[in-house]
Amino acid sequence: MDLMEKITALAKRRGFIFPSSEVYGGYQGFWDYGPLGVELKNNIKREWWKSMVYMREDVVGFDAAIIMNPTVWEKSGHLKAFTDPLVECKKCHHRFKVDSVEDKCPECEGEFTEPKTFNLMTEVLLGTTEPKEKSYLRGEITQGVFVNFENVVNSSRVKIPFGIAQIGKAFRNEITPGNFTFRSREFEQMELEYFVRPVDVESKDMFEYWKEERMKWYTSLGMNKTKLRFRDHEPEKRAHYAKYATDIEYEAPFGWSEFEGIHHRGDYDLKNHNLSYKDQQTGEEFTPWVIETSGGVDRAMLFFLIDAYFEDGERIILKLNPKIAPYKVAVFPLLRNKEELIIKAKEVLKIIKKGIDGPVVWDDRGNIGKRYFAQDEIGTPWCVTVDFQSLDDATVTVRDRDTAKQQRVAVDKLSDYFSGKLK
Ligand code: GAP
Repeated sequence: MDLMEKITALAKRRGFIFPSSEVYGGYQGFWDYGPLGVELKNNIKREWWKSMVYMREDVVGFDAAIIMNPTVWEKSGHLKAFTDPLVECKKCHHRFKVDSVEDKCPECEGEFTEPKTFNLMTEVLLGTTEPKEKSYLRGEITQGVFVNFENVVNSSRVKIPFGIAQIGKAFRNEITPGNFTFRSREFEQMELEYFVRPVDVESKDMFEYWKEERMKWYTSLGMNKTKLRFRDHEPEKRAHYAKYATDIEYEAPFGWSEFEGIHHRGDYDLKNHNLSYKDQQTGEEFTPWVIETSGGVDRAMLFFLIDAYFEDGERIILKLNPKIAPYKVAVFPLLRNKEELIIKAKEVLKIIKKGIDGPVVWDDRGNIGKRYFAQDEIGTPWCVTVDFQSLDDATVTVRDRDTAKQQRVAVDKLSDYFSGKLK
């Protein structure tokens, strides 16, 4: 099996990611997140929110509606320009994104039509009277922030330069969804819109600053530096709103692939929506420029999984950073049929649960070796075993996922031990 097949199989076997509506054969471009997947995804989003909002003085949070007045999409340029070039096979009529195929159809080797533009916005019909009102699921979460720019300025104490952060679902009618969750039709974005004075040098410096900040964030959560790179967009490849743009790419098994974009959007959006900023002290009025960092939660999660995947013989280890690992600690009674061990282990479980922020799980299936094997495969950083010695001296064995080393730790020191490691 190649690495993508292994990751897809692991994701399904262990409850990270399932094909959406699988009982009805799935649905192309849609995925469901299982008990472990939702933890990993939430942890990524929480770490992002912490670093982008809580750790800063100049950023506030936001959460816009998914469906907005369709005029938003007309003004933002999405109805005209949010397109991909598409070709259709003249023989089997399959359609493909131009840059995803060579000159012959991969299904039947037929010839392609000339490229046509295809709009990626997902239409929805609303209301009770016919004809129903056509609206759209948002193609990027961004526009909700722009159209609320003045609401945020007038209701909070933000002053230029400042940012508005948001995490939420976006939808694109992708021509060729694929590479597992990498290209989906429903996905989540985590975005910062950072508003600056319309000055070339200042905005360029901010663009460079955010590029570095975002790259640092991925490596701070353990992503392998050598698998990451920046890639500047050539002018003809830039989105319709971008003055300049850089991607952060990961070297995936299917090639270097973008999973976050840093865009200089200039005044494109605020001007289109006819919005501006007034400096309360100087009275000066202007249209700010915007530096945007736009990451995909699903793509980040996929790359965190790929990056963390290691094999040691039969053993699979997901070396996820403890901050994003779905479970932080697993607690085992050495034997499942010894009541005194069970009682003590339940006590230990409770103590650790109270002491740390994140899920602590119970595991008493099979022998200890099998339990280590299972926890390594889902990335649990530490396993705690309660054994007969624990009954005598109130210590337990803590085993580290990455080194497989074991250490005796006093039960009353466990909370400090783990919270120290998780900091
Ligand atoms: N607001 C700017 C914006 O939406 P983008 O480069 O089109 O920019 C940003 O998208 C990020 O959203 C991408 O880097 C990617 O991580 C994620 N993304 C875009 N399309 C996606 C898709 N079809 N499936 C999964 N993630 C996607």
